[in-house]
Amino acid sequence: MFQTDILFGLPIYKTKIDPDTYDKEKLLSIMKKNYSLGPRNNFDEYNSNVHMSFADEKNKKFKSVNYTKLKKVYDNVFDNFIKNLKFNYDGAVNWTYDILNYTVSNKDDYMNYHNHLPKDDFACVHYLQLGKGHIGTKFKNTHTFGNYFKLIRSKLCNSMNNMNKINSYIYEDFTLDVEEDDMIIFPSVAEHGIKKVDKLSDKLRITIASNLRLV
Ligand SMILES: [Fe+2]
Repeated sequence: MFQTDILFGLPIYKTKIDPDTYDKEKLLSIMKKNYSLGPRNNFDEYNSNVHMSFADEKNKKFKSVNYTKLKKVYDNVFDNFIKNLKFNYDGAVNWTYDILNYTVSNKDDYMNYHNHLPKDDFACVHYLQLGKGHIGTKFKNTHTFGNYFKLIRSKLCNSMNNMNKINSYIYEDFTLDVEEDDMIIFPSVAEHGIKKVDKLSDKLRITIASNLRLV
C-alpha cells in the first residue's frame, strides 16, 4: 500500500444539516415566493438570472428572510467545525459568521467564479433544496497547470476516473457530489461558482451561503 498525502490541496468539509431542527419549509416558501416576484441580482459579476438576496436585503419588493432558528443550528455546526481545526496553540478560539445570501436558480442560471476574500477565512454553502439533475458547487483548479495539463498529458487525463476526488488536480474544475441538506465549508480563497443549470428540474435549486472567520 502507499501512503497518500495531499500537498497544497483545498480541504472541503461536508456535514449534514438536519431539516427537522429549524423552520426549513418556512424559509423555502419565502425564498420561492420572492423568486416568483421577479429577478433579484444586484451583483454584476453574477450575470445570469440567478436570484439572490446579496446586497439587496433592504429591497421592500421582497420579503425578508428570518434566519433566527437556522442560526441556532449553524452556531453548533461552526463551533464543532472550529474545534476540529488544527491550531498551533491550545485554548479558546474566537470566531464569528454571517449568513450572506440565499440563491435561487433555475434552468440556464449560473454563477461565475468568485472567492470570499478578503474579509473571511471560510465560506459555506448549505444546499437547502436540490431537484433532479442539480449538482453541487463547482471549484476551479487554480494550480498554474489547471487549464493546460490535460492538453499535454491527454492519455493520463482521459484514463483517470474523473469522479474520484483524488484525481481533481488533473481537471480544470471539479464539482463535488452533494445532496439536499448537505453543507460544505471551504477556504474563502477557493474560486467557486455554479455550473449552468442545463435542464429544467422538478424543483428550484436553493442554497444559503455564509462566511466564517476567526476574530
Ligand atoms: Fe460564494
